[in-house]
Amino acid sequence: MPATSIEQVVNLAKRRGFVYPASEIYGGLGSCWDYGPLGAELKRNVKDAWWRTMVHTRRDVEGLDSAVLQHPDVWKASGHVDTFSDPLVDCKKCKARFRADDLEGATCPERHDAPINDDCRGHFTEPRAFNLMFQTHLGPVEGSASLAYLRPETAQGIFTNFLNVMTTGRRKPPFGIAQIGKSFRNEITPGNFIFRTREFEQMEMEYFVPPDEWETWYAYWREARMQWYVDLGIDPANLRYRDHDPDELAHYAKATADVEYKLPIGWKELEGVACRSDFDLKRHAEASGRTLEYFDGQTRERYVPWVIEPAAGVDRAVLCFLVDAYEEQELDGDTRTVLHLHPRLAPVKVAVFPLVKKDGMPELAMEIEDALRARGIATAYDKSGAIGRRYRRQDEIGTPWCITVDGETKEQGTVTLRDRDSMEQERVPAAELPDLITERLRG
Ligand code: GAP
Repeated sequence: MPATSIEQVVNLAKRRGFVYPASEIYGGLGSCWDYGPLGAELKRNVKDAWWRTMVHTRRDVEGLDSAVLQHPDVWKASGHVDTFSDPLVDCKKCKARFRADDLEGATCPERHDAPINDDCRGHFTEPRAFNLMFQTHLGPVEGSASLAYLRPETAQGIFTNFLNVMTTGRRKPPFGIAQIGKSFRNEITPGNFIFRTREFEQMEMEYFVPPDEWETWYAYWREARMQWYVDLGIDPANLRYRDHDPDELAHYAKATADVEYKLPIGWKELEGVACRSDFDLKRHAEASGRTLEYFDGQTRERYVPWVIEPAAGVDRAVLCFLVDAYEEQELDGDTRTVLHLHPRLAPVKVAVFPLVKKDGMPELAMEIEDALRARGIATAYDKSGAIGRRYRRQDEIGTPWCITVDGETKEQGTVTLRDRDSMEQERVPAAELPDLITERLRG
């Protein structure tokens, strides 16, 4: 059985230390989440996998890490001050707030408990634009001169550094600039666990191309981004593309296609691939007075590049990887909960168990674990409980391999290596484990 509700994954995430409610000891803070030890590893592995695919394995992409706080004029030029808003309505009766485009009926669906025990059914105010950017102030004086915004997307830090990176990297379009970092949006209706939150992380790449090549690169990135999820183990049947209708395009976009994932709550956006044309570079050139274009000194060619942008959410990707990996299996009258995470994403790669707590087995197991750790492989050590229980504990967090140290280890130098998905065991020399696991993680 795959996951049939997000709650199954929420429960596992809480129980095993992937994700906790933020400020839990104070009763939590709406739609804010903290990543626990396993969640921090999983999230880091997702980001590493993205960076590896988008930056390290490519010749044409540079990395960047720009500030969350930028000059307020950045957000005026980008259009976010004027147009980055959602339509908001208030219920005139109970004052609940909704995104107008989320509502299905004409009256307020807020559920009121006893003594009413019914939907509110109040009428709504006219929709008004609610800007999603969080405001703050730089320095101790509050006023319009110190006004600043928490970035709602990482992309603008890339556009403002376009010239810097192109010059220092001696780049010529087509080339890309990639960045991973936190973004903030004062969402009207956050929810569904880590799917929509007010503080989240993005993995974005702006790919600058000659204007007449945009369609080729748009098609290329559309394909490449879908494949990234498949290569990391997502079932292709749970992925699809959805092209935006012209009336739902963001203010900067000429074309957009969403990579959607089939969550238990329906098909939802996982990542967007957009053609932003020359919108951002032109707007920043106008507003800053700087020339933001590519110039070829030899051919005297000069143009403002167009931009293709694959923009993914780290937290959303984590949720989809968890949901897709989740399975409950009936085994010998027992339920095995297993996360079939891709080994590269799994928070723990190898768990090492001594079969019994005597005859030098715990010491030997720790030696083997140390040798794996020394290779940078994330490991766990577990000596308590029946071996079957120990396997289950690791299955539930997605550990691809378990190693058991037994009587033969001391005599023959071999251990059992058990595979999470097939549950098959093989006997391998302990001394070869670091190479073997490194090799399997690479493949
Ligand atoms: N620079 C383009 C941009 O930001 P977007 O479609 O608004 O485009 C890109 O965001 C991705 O960021 C989304 O596909 C989603 O994965 C993630 N994302 C956006 N808002 C989010 C939120 N409130 N919570 C979690 N992830 C979010």
